[in-house]
Amino acid sequence: MGKMRCSVFIGVSLDGFIARANGEIDWLDSFEVVEPQQDFGYKEFYSSVDTLIVGRGTFEVASRFKAWPYEGKRVVVLSSGMDALPPELSGKAEIMSAAPTDVVRTLDERGARHAYVDGGRTIQGFLRAGLIDDMTITRLPILLGAGLPLFGSLDRDVRLDHIQTRAYKNGFVQSKYGVLLPS
Ligand SMILES: NC(=O)c1ccc[n+]([C@@H]2O[C@H](COP(=O)([O-])OP(=O)(O)OC[C@H]3O[C@@H](n4cnc5c(N)ncnc54)[C@H](OP(=O)(O)O)[C@@H]3O)[C@@H](O)[C@H]2O)c1
Repeated sequence: MGKMRCSVFIGVSLDGFIARANGEIDWLDSFEVVEPQQDFGYKEFYSSVDTLIVGRGTFEVASRFKAWPYEGKRVVVLSSGMDALPPELSGKAEIMSAAPTDVVRTLDERGARHAYVDGGRTIQGFLRAGLIDDMTITRLPILLGAGLPLFGSLDRDVRLDHIQTRAYKNGFVQSKYGVLLPS
């Protein structure tokens, strides 16, 4: 069975945070979208995945959105402490608690082909396990000073292959990287 591809697609402050310390992401929506219909490639990326793997922190924020944001996808929420979904979301996601390698193996066996891995600590765990294949990181022109970081400690360096960088008129700078296998 071929390994399911794992991708990251995330917005980050220039100083490397994905949310304020209290989890708020208000700053993400505070930028003007200058180019009409511009979604920074999100729809195209989202339509390429069949599965979402999200950490509990990300799930908690997503579950408060007016509409469930992951309609039509297989959704796995990683949590060691959560034993049930809120009743209104029952059947929309599955809770798993396992090492990233086991999560990928399980989903792979079920036929998943491409996962969107989301949430700071979740991404860090998958990177440490060598399971992320590519990352599209959109840097927003803002400094937050403190918050929840995208990246964290590693057991060894992770070499990246820069695929492309695109600057948008509103100041967003989006870079796509492939993650190289350790040599
Ligand atoms: N800027 C953006 O584009 C963007 C994107 C996504 C999220 N966010 C924001 O980032 C914040 C959440 O990030 P976060 O750093 O808190 O990380 P997170 O990855 O969303 O959540 C971390 C939690 O996921 C669970 N987890 C992760 N790996 C696990 C594993 N292998 N097994 C079991 N549980 C596992 C743990 O939950 P338990 O503690 O329950 O064990 C851990 O505490 C939210 O505020 C969200 O809005 C921003």
